[in-house]
Amino acid sequence: MKENGRKIARRGGQDAGYVREAFAKIADRYVVTNHVLSAGTDILWRRKVARMVRNWEPSQILDVATGTGDLALEMQKVCSEAKITATDFCPEMLAHAERRGIAKTQVADALNLPYRDGEFDVVTVAFGLRNMADWETGLREMARVCQGGHLLVLDFSLPKGMLGKPYGFYLNRVLPKIAGALTGQGQAFEYLAGTIEKFPSGSAMQGLFEKSGLQDAQIIPLSGGIASIYTAYSPES
Ligand SMILES: C[S@@+](CC[C@H](N)C(=O)[O-])C[C@H]1O[C@@H](n2cnc3c(N)ncnc32)[C@H](O)[C@@H]1O
Repeated sequence: MKENGRKIARRGGQDAGYVREAFAKIADRYVVTNHVLSAGTDILWRRKVARMVRNWEPSQILDVATGTGDLALEMQKVCSEAKITATDFCPEMLAHAERRGIAKTQVADALNLPYRDGEFDVVTVAFGLRNMADWETGLREMARVCQGGHLLVLDFSLPKGMLGKPYGFYLNRVLPKIAGALTGQGQAFEYLAGTIEKFPSGSAMQGLFEKSGLQDAQIIPLSGGIASIYTAYSPES
């Protein structure tokens, strides 16, 4: 299967080499571009996630695909008792997370995490699962390192009803143009917008969670369903 001339992996997800390269290219403009494209809403979504994580009272948190560390920073503010580790397979993105004050970072592939079973109480991943080469393997691996704890996924979803069509237009036509003007990498954003339409959301994501061995999957739609928070319990093996 090909998209924008690039080969895409078959198991639902994305080509890892292409994704790493795309984020390396936009790393310096990632934070600003995100805030412009979402009119700042992404900040509120991550704050909500950080508050939810705080309620679990974790002592060890892993933020996977942390990118420039936006969610890890929010969690650092409100989960003062917890140790936060932030990982990403793109060193250019992770360098920003370090500069912005994330104390513990590690370059790591989410599909093969260098941590023990159950090493963390909570694993979070914001806008990262969608970009992985194999969603189920990513979920299983994140679930493995938080056995006996919680997994939380924040990602885009597709709004139903009246918002559906205008959002599709924004995603495919408007977003790549604005992002292209801000980063000079419009094609990368066309590709990223395309990933949102292929990514499971709602009950399909709940099904994928169950298939990946997670239990009690819950969905919280945000901003009319443009994004969703999914939480689940990872049972001990
Ligand atoms: C859209 S950014 C999200 C960054 C951040 N979590 C946020 O909330 O803004 C997606 C990140 O996922 C990372 N990523 C994609 N696949 C990955 C994988 N298999 N392992 C680790 N990181 C991955 C990319 O390098 C990129 O930094």
